[in-house]
Amino acid sequence: MRIEISPSNTLHGTLILPLTQGDDVADASLTGVPSALKAQIANALSDGDFKGKKGEILALVGTGEGRALLAGLGKAKDLDRDVWRDTGAKVTAAMKPSHGKEFTVAAEDGDMHDLAAMAEGMMLRDYSYDVYLTKDDEDDEDDGETVVRFACEDEDTEPLAAIVKRMSGVVKGVHRSRDLGNCPPNDLYPMAYARQAMEFAENSDRLNVSVITYEEALERGMGGLVAVGMGSSRKPCMVIFELNAEQPGRAPVIVGKGITFDTGGISIKPSPSMDEMKYDMGGSSVVFGLMQALVETGWEGKVTGIACMAENMPAANAQRPGDVIRTYSGKTIEVLNTDAEGRLVLSDGLWKAGEYDPEYIIDLATLTGACVVALGHEASGLWSNDDDLRARIHDAGNAVGELAWPMPLLPAFEKEMTDSKIADTRNLGAGRWGGANTAAAFLKQFVPSRGEGDDEEQIPWAHLDIAGTYWGAKTNATVKHGATGVHVRTLHHLITSE
Ligand code: BES
Ligand code: ZN
Ligand code: ZN
Repeated sequence: MRIEISPSNTLHGTLILPLTQGDDVADASLTGVPSALKAQIANALSDGDFKGKKGEILALVGTGEGRALLAGLGKAKDLDRDVWRDTGAKVTAAMKPSHGKEFTVAAEDGDMHDLAAMAEGMMLRDYSYDVYLTKDDEDDEDDGETVVRFACEDEDTEPLAAIVKRMSGVVKGVHRSRDLGNCPPNDLYPMAYARQAMEFAENSDRLNVSVITYEEALERGMGGLVAVGMGSSRKPCMVIFELNAEQPGRAPVIVGKGITFDTGGISIKPSPSMDEMKYDMGGSSVVFGLMQALVETGWEGKVTGIACMAENMPAANAQRPGDVIRTYSGKTIEVLNTDAEGRLVLSDGLWKAGEYDPEYIIDLATLTGACVVALGHEASGLWSNDDDLRARIHDAGNAVGELAWPMPLLPAFEKEMTDSKIADTRNLGAGRWGGANTAAAFLKQFVPSRGEGDDEEQIPWAHLDIAGTYWGAKTNATVKHGATGVHVRTLHHLITSE
């Protein structure tokens, strides 16, 4: 889909008309609307076939003279950017081949940023994962790109075009993240991710990707990554993205859990829905998507991404419950459940992050079922050792419509995770309660510090548990199904609006 911004107010193709509840004037600002279509719209409004309720879409086709999609924005008093974005997404979802490839949006309400949000929603929803669908030769014929023209005020044309261009770069990153999340686990394994990252970096002289292979991870003592991945024939690796590395000063480091398939290992998971555990690499896919979004939008600041890639399999050479492993940090972990593997690979990723002397560290992980129990699919869990960072991530999430809900990082949870009789920490809480919080408290043990003695202080760090928001988010209008790519936009906003 290509979005064009045009000061001309002539209708081309199918008319898209966003209307609030109670709007009765529909086509005032556009010329070239066939009179039959005008009459049809007027009838739909006066007969109450279309009320303008939030999410309501009415397709008017078949008059022979013009077609329209009426899109409900809901009540004017509740209209915000999220509504504009969702409305755009719903319009894309309602597009049919009979509407043709050309559209014109004529919005009566809304400023430039509202229109941009609608365009963003349209682009985000313009995604399907059909790589594995066998197509007929006929389907393969390229029937051209969809073009959506936004009619706007003269003076808004240039700035709006610039905002939309930037957004389309970010959307590419979101779609990359979804592609990775949707990819079946037989094709997306740790080194496949690494190769894709290296290939992507070849096209950018600002981005460098390096890979710590299994052998190197063994040599360097990355015991968490090794323990989780060693039972698989597809060995683990750590993929490091360095954007604008030559820039001086401290910069963000983003760490992602990248379990390309989580069987649970020897503590094997039950069969139902196990297939969904291909999306257990969602955190690493957000890291990749974010790096792409930053590259596409020409971000000149330094940012580092670390993807901790492994496949968690039961095998003769897999780790066992009861094993004690030594992580990259030097701390030991008693592995009481091999299904709590995300925290093991992240322990090495977080420690590795410290080597970049980061401004802050944010990790993203489909870490716990407990987080889905707590927040459902509506918000990611957000934990932080730094009030300011927590607030900034929360605000960035709100600004882009990706909620990150503050959760508690309590000393009692940390105590629970450090009371192993034989190791520094344990990877399982004492009971099942507060499982998302104990997981976060576990991660905190591996957040590096700087300074010495009384000046020693942990680096600002935040953890986003995206187990519920990365997949199965049915109320997320920007996604049809499958991987959402959640928080690519949050982090892009956080980093670039500093
Ligand atoms: N990948 C899962 C968490 C998960 C569950 C993600 C559901 C998405 C949807 C993680 O590795 C896991 O298995 N966690 C265990 C931890 C437990 C053993 C302490 C869980 O949540 O049950
Ligand atoms: Zn697991
Ligand atoms: Zn997992």
